[in-house]
Amino acid sequence: MFVGTDSFDCVVIDGTVVTAVDTGRYDIGIKDGKIAILAPARSLLSAKTSRLIDAEGGLVMPGGIDAHVHLAEPELFGKGRSADDFESGTRSAIAGGTTTIIAFAPQPRAESSLLKALDEAQEKAKDSTYCDYSLHVIVANPTRQALSEFATLRERGVSSVKVYMTYEVLQLRDSQILDVLLQARTDGITTMIHAENGDVLAWMTEQLESRLLLAPKYHVTSRPQILESEATNRAISLGQLIGAPILIVHVSSPAAAETIRKAQTNGLPVYAETCPQYVFLTREDLDQPGFEGAKCVCAPPPRDTQDQEGIWRGLQNGTFTILSSDHCAFYYNNAEIGKKSAITEDAPLGRFRYIPNGCPGVETRMPLILSAGRLTPQKFVEVMSTNPAKLYGLYPQKGALIPGVSDADLVIWYPQMAPFHITNASLHHNVDYTPYEGRHVSQWPRYTIIRGEVVWDRDSGGIVGQKGYGQFVKRTRSAFCEDLPAWDVEKF
Ligand code: URP
Ligand code: ZN
Repeated sequence: MFVGTDSFDCVVIDGTVVTAVDTGRYDIGIKDGKIAILAPARSLLSAKTSRLIDAEGGLVMPGGIDAHVHLAEPELFGKGRSADDFESGTRSAIAGGTTTIIAFAPQPRAESSLLKALDEAQEKAKDSTYCDYSLHVIVANPTRQALSEFATLRERGVSSVKVYMTYEVLQLRDSQILDVLLQARTDGITTMIHAENGDVLAWMTEQLESRLLLAPKYHVTSRPQILESEATNRAISLGQLIGAPILIVHVSSPAAAETIRKAQTNGLPVYAETCPQYVFLTREDLDQPGFEGAKCVCAPPPRDTQDQEGIWRGLQNGTFTILSSDHCAFYYNNAEIGKKSAITEDAPLGRFRYIPNGCPGVETRMPLILSAGRLTPQKFVEVMSTNPAKLYGLYPQKGALIPGVSDADLVIWYPQMAPFHITNASLHHNVDYTPYEGRHVSQWPRYTIIRGEVVWDRDSGGIVGQKGYGQFVKRTRSAFCEDLPAWDVEKF
């Protein structure tokens, strides 16, 4: 309870405070970087505080957690190299209401250890970020040594790994995925799975290439939904064999979502992620004059308008646990490390197979989805913040507003805003385009607050946080994942 003599570092007055479970008009007192109190609206008006923020009429939520952000990665997917590093990527994140990101530490295939990859990513991120951050490790070579290091990952606060069922340099065989899942089960790690059938994709690509169908739009043709839903089904089956929790990342196909829902209904620990590109873009966005469609090349690809409805439904009915950006920015106008590296003299419209896969989106994730008005504010908080925190072992430090427990990470929205058009010039990433150029939004974060410090103040300075303020956050095991007994092969 608030006592008149209490003093705060910051007080947020009279906002409509939304958590994943509750909505109400409250004041929030912040002290030493933590949520100190939630009190009846305007009851903290006279409290001693260094800063008072009037949020009257606006939504106040736990800061966004974007659990799928590719930053400062080397050329993993062909020639493309990340346009954003930890500095520019997290600067962009805070301008869009995100207070914590989870990026990736990719193990090169030729490397037998995971720890070097983790060291390198931590070194790149250290003193460079505007927001708090953590890392998933990409396992491209599950050697004995790599698997034995899962326990060390946990000690170092990393409780998730990602594996790929596609991309030549990353694709694991089913038996390798089983190795990862078994070790992950033992060490309390959640396995993220990129579920596309790489062999079928390679075959489809050859079919298209042999017919000289090379333009960006054929990226979608090369990846029919069946390629995603088959891999999703296989990933679920492999997870079921081991009894290990899995998270299917960036789901674009409603057929895959159906398969996931069925598994969830059957009680399997299967979680799923989708992304804004699968509710705002369609395959038409890849069918643009010249090479323009390359801007929207990502994997899995955007699908059709009716498929978007299936993805919204999956968000509304809880099939999707989280909504991340899969921010993976490549320059468009760059022939060395960007999208245009896929253009050659004999293929002036590029060859889709060489277009670096990925789109920027860490900054637009929250405003686009909130503006769409398709999720209730509580569901929005659940998939944008609370569930990512629970799934990846950040809860309740992050993703909640629990007095004395949660970090004071907030995003505060405007009471009302005149709709405006997104332009790339207004964004804070380091890439030369946004797939959402010209799109209307009716909301944008007014303030972003991390551990009690205002880092984004849209009306007064924009980015007001400092590079290096962000901290590495050690994660525990997933809140969705209980302790499991040793796996027993004899039970089959
Ligand atoms: O096209 C995508 N999704 N690029 C990012 C890499 C990945 O697979 O997450
Ligand atoms: Zn992926």
